[in-house]
Amino acid sequence: MPARILSGIAIRDQIQAEVTVEIEQLREAGVRPGLAVILAGNDPGSEIYTRNKVKTCEKLGIYSERMVFPETTTTEELLSQVKLLNSRSEIDGILVQLPLPSQVDSKQVLLAVDPQKDVDGFHPMNVGNLVTQRPGLVPCTPAGILEILKRSEIPIKGQRAVVIGRSDIVGKPVALLLMHHHATVTVCHSRTQNLPAVCREADILVAALGKPGMVTGEFVKPGAAVIDVGIGRITTLEEVERFFPGDPKRRSQVETKGSTLLGDIDPSTVLPVAGALTPVPGGVGPLTIAMLMVNTVRAARLRRSHLAAYVAT
Ligand code: GUN
Repeated sequence: MPARILSGIAIRDQIQAEVTVEIEQLREAGVRPGLAVILAGNDPGSEIYTRNKVKTCEKLGIYSERMVFPETTTTEELLSQVKLLNSRSEIDGILVQLPLPSQVDSKQVLLAVDPQKDVDGFHPMNVGNLVTQRPGLVPCTPAGILEILKRSEIPIKGQRAVVIGRSDIVGKPVALLLMHHHATVTVCHSRTQNLPAVCREADILVAALGKPGMVTGEFVKPGAAVIDVGIGRITTLEEVERFFPGDPKRRSQVETKGSTLLGDIDPSTVLPVAGALTPVPGGVGPLTIAMLMVNTVRAARLRRSHLAAYVAT
């Protein structure tokens, strides 16, 4: 039997409906959560992601601002914007879209964000809160992955989880969350030896390595839940036939738009082996924005302790 497809769209809709109720409650208490999104430079992905973040805020009734800086911006310029946002009381969340232009000291900019407004969970204070299981703001993509697993009733406790990728944004925090949910976790990376054999141990396999189609059926234990965090692209019909054999929709996307999305997973060989798989697009991606909305509402409550219904994830 081919793998169950874990739709992120349905789960996103469920979470957004829950957040909408919370936003309504806050509105009755005279509070409107606010998010500021900083975009610097010309990264085409970042341009689209930041627009979608602001659009979702508007849809749910969160106040939002998108601040755009040129490719030539400086660390100092971004630092002064972050400091200004830290001091503005109507702004509950500050998101600095990554990557920043190469001349900018990203670590310094992220460190300047008030940890209470750090809706990405990238500030070392929130990283420390996550490591030590204190209440705090948790990075959006890892939090979204846990929501997919929980709401799809995939068991975590006592299971073997393997994470491919050790980034600060996904690999490390998702490994911590899985560990806190009592999985036995292995983190793999570019220097890991016998990678397919290590991955085949996994009941839950999280692929966040950023190499389109690299994780094949050979990496997957029969029946495993496979989470695909990659968002790569393929551009040739030969690739379409390899990764999506006989799929007319993918073929026509390449013919008309010049490309189609491919995650880190090769669906042609993983679907027959896995028990469950998140699609790309429509899997983890939608959850990242939904969890940003959750974090923004949480940050709004966190800064007003009388409204704090604040729990650790
Ligand atoms: N770039 C890629 N993913 C993310 C994310 O989750 N947050 C931010 N700020 N930038 C990103």
